[in-house]
Amino acid sequence: MIKPSSFFQSVFLLSTLLIWGGVQAQMLGEYSGARQQQMLRGRQNNNNNNGPDKSAFNIVNGRVFTPGLGIILAPQPFTPMGGDFLHIAIDVSGDGKLPVPPRSIADSLTQVFNFTLFLTSNDMQKNFTISNITTTTPPFANIMNQEPGSTVKHINFEWPDCLVGDGKEDIGTTARGDYNISIHQNFRLDGNDFYSIFNLPISVTNSISQFPGASQLLTKPPPGPLNGANGGRVNCDSISNPLMNITALIASVSNPPGQPIQDIPIQTSQRSNGGQVGGNGKANPNGNSNTNSGGDIGETANGAQGVKSMDGRFMYAAVVAGVAMLGTSFTWP
Ligand SMILES: *[C@@H]1O[C@H](CO)[C@@H](O)[C@H](O)[C@H]1NC(C)=O
Ligand SMILES: *[C@@H]1O[C@H](CO)[C@@H](O)[C@H](O)[C@H]1NC(C)=O
Ligand SMILES: *[C@@H]1O[C@H](CO)[C@@H](O)[C@H](O)[C@H]1NC(C)=O
Ligand SMILES: *[C@@H]1O[C@H](CO)[C@@H](O)[C@H](O)[C@H]1NC(C)=O
Ligand SMILES: *[C@@H]1O[C@H](CO)[C@@H](O)[C@H](O)[C@H]1NC(C)=O
Repeated sequence: MIKPSSFFQSVFLLSTLLIWGGVQAQMLGEYSGARQQQMLRGRQNNNNNNGPDKSAFNIVNGRVFTPGLGIILAPQPFTPMGGDFLHIAIDVSGDGKLPVPPRSIADSLTQVFNFTLFLTSNDMQKNFTISNITTTTPPFANIMNQEPGSTVKHINFEWPDCLVGDGKEDIGTTARGDYNISIHQNFRLDGNDFYSIFNLPISVTNSISQFPGASQLLTKPPPGPLNGANGGRVNCDSISNPLMNITALIASVSNPPGQPIQDIPIQTSQRSNGGQVGGNGKANPNGNSNTNSGGDIGETANGAQGVKSMDGRFMYAAVVAGVAMLGTSFTWP
């Protein structure tokens, strides 16, 4: 795959942002290519007469595709939210193609490096940490390492105290209003590393009580962060980050050339764990007749499984070449 120079990439990103910004409102920057496809998809999605215009999103059966390996299952864009905590569900397996911990996720072709999430609002000038891989306690913990074996990771983010309200409060007295769940993804796709930011708009307008019910603590993974002193909501300042402007955000991303999964087949390295133990045997194991004078004596036993003895770089090249020739992807059984 030809990688455009970073200069070209930034010029392209900037110019396409100006032209196509409306269509890709939720994604920062632009895919390097696939513009027509995005536009068409946008138009096709535009036929819901009731409810908000979700044409800027790729949604298939309630699954929101992102410019990364994650697929958002919940919430849906523009949902008014409240209650005890914010519940987010993300498929982190590239639609089932990639292994999740405790299996190894390391792969020279395609893998998740990490997900971090923030709750941001330009209107309110807020940027709250949802999950930033700082502690081992959810939701700040690395979401890849929770719910072992599950391809869907759940994040239960306790609303901080400045979002408390019931809709009757005066405008401007709280930080309630429109927000983005801002999902940052570091990942490798088909041998190249990318970093994308995807903004999922929600409204924090439903009722949020000052003291969340104790029963919520039975939820797994446990909602957080919680106030260490009284078990209630944390102060907003304690999870606040500086808000970056859109120019700086766009400059920070390195988007893939299209939507992984929908536009770009995910390639993974061939796995050697599992399958046949040992090499192929001989056609005539008892050797009691038809003694063959000549031919490949003793070859089959280690020939067929020889891929294991290849040196790593050669094997990688072979896999890439195989993928390129077949035009197909190795899928995870
Ligand atoms: C996420 O992954 C990227 C790429 O590997 C790495 O540079 C970054 O430090 C990671 N971030 C966290 C919070 O671990
Ligand atoms: C959410 O992000 C989009 C850009 O992706 C931005 O246009 C919009 O203003 C943001 N919404 C809020 C409430 O900040
Ligand atoms: C993660 O977020 C918490 C809460 O905002 C903050 O205290 C901590 O410094 C952050 N960690 C990093 C590495 O940014
Ligand atoms: C929010 O803060 C995090 C951590 O500092 C940063 O990576 C992210 O870009 C910020 N988001 C916005 C919209 O400013
Ligand atoms: C955006 O933020 C960057 C870095 O903080 C700053 O240099 C730049 O002037 C800002 N741009 C605008 C339009 O505010």
